[in-house]
Amino acid sequence: MLPKSSVPGLIPTLNNTGWMTETLDDYSLAFTEYAGTQQAECLDIGCAYGVATLPALAKGARILASDLEPRHLEILAGRVPPADRARFRSQPARLPDIDFPAGSFGALLCARVLHFLLARDIEITVRKMFDWLLPGGRAFLITDSPYAGPWWKSSPEYERRKREGCPWPGFVSNYPSLLPAGTDPSKHSSFIHPLDPDILSRVCREAGFEVLEARFLRGGTKSATGREHAGVIAAKPAL
Ligand SMILES: C[S@@+](CC[C@H](N)C(=O)[O-])C[C@H]1O[C@@H](n2cnc3c(N)ncnc32)[C@H](O)[C@@H]1O
Repeated sequence: MLPKSSVPGLIPTLNNTGWMTETLDDYSLAFTEYAGTQQAECLDIGCAYGVATLPALAKGARILASDLEPRHLEILAGRVPPADRARFRSQPARLPDIDFPAGSFGALLCARVLHFLLARDIEITVRKMFDWLLPGGRAFLITDSPYAGPWWKSSPEYERRKREGCPWPGFVSNYPSLLPAGTDPSKHSSFIHPLDPDILSRVCREAGFEVLEARFLRGGTKSATGREHAGVIAAKPAL
């Protein structure tokens, strides 16, 4: 069963890694549609309780759902309709450590996970993703942007660093200091690393991808302004 939520539009994770959205941003939606057209299996990594996995399965996709937290995967498995179960499997995994065989997937989604990683681990992860895809396969990457979460207060600093050419201008090293009074800092990451569409595009190009689209995306809450998330859709060149 899904955990109870105090915030409309968001479901809390069980491992202090923020929230799963209840609705799909534009690029997660595009993943579900693209995955539904693929014969090859597709990967949803950082899937939580399946906000994207379930609609992708409903569109006919074969999905490997993966997440750091095995309890998320157990809850997700209980939500998969009988008609979709033969096209679903799951595997716990931690980015950037996990290795899948080269050429495993027709497409992959990594929605709102990379901002929990340090710069070097983001680069390692995206290079691995390139390897995991079949030639012609597509990566749909979405992160939280500097304009979301409690770290929006640091967005002027992000903008200043970006103007000055810093390659990772959104990095927040003192995340607990930005949390609302009374929040338990032990329940949050010590840092947070929101990204923007330019950074995502650069990391994808450096890994060998062709960038098809990149932009800010609207979040899933009523108060969304339109730039809560950053996204990129990138293709591994066909042979
Ligand atoms: C903020 S939630 C996003 C869930 C969903 N993809 C969405 O867009 O709403 C982050 C999810 O990524 C998982 N996660 C966090 N760090 C991870 C890592 N290093 N490797 C794999 N999964 C991770 C968490 O367990 C959690 O389910």
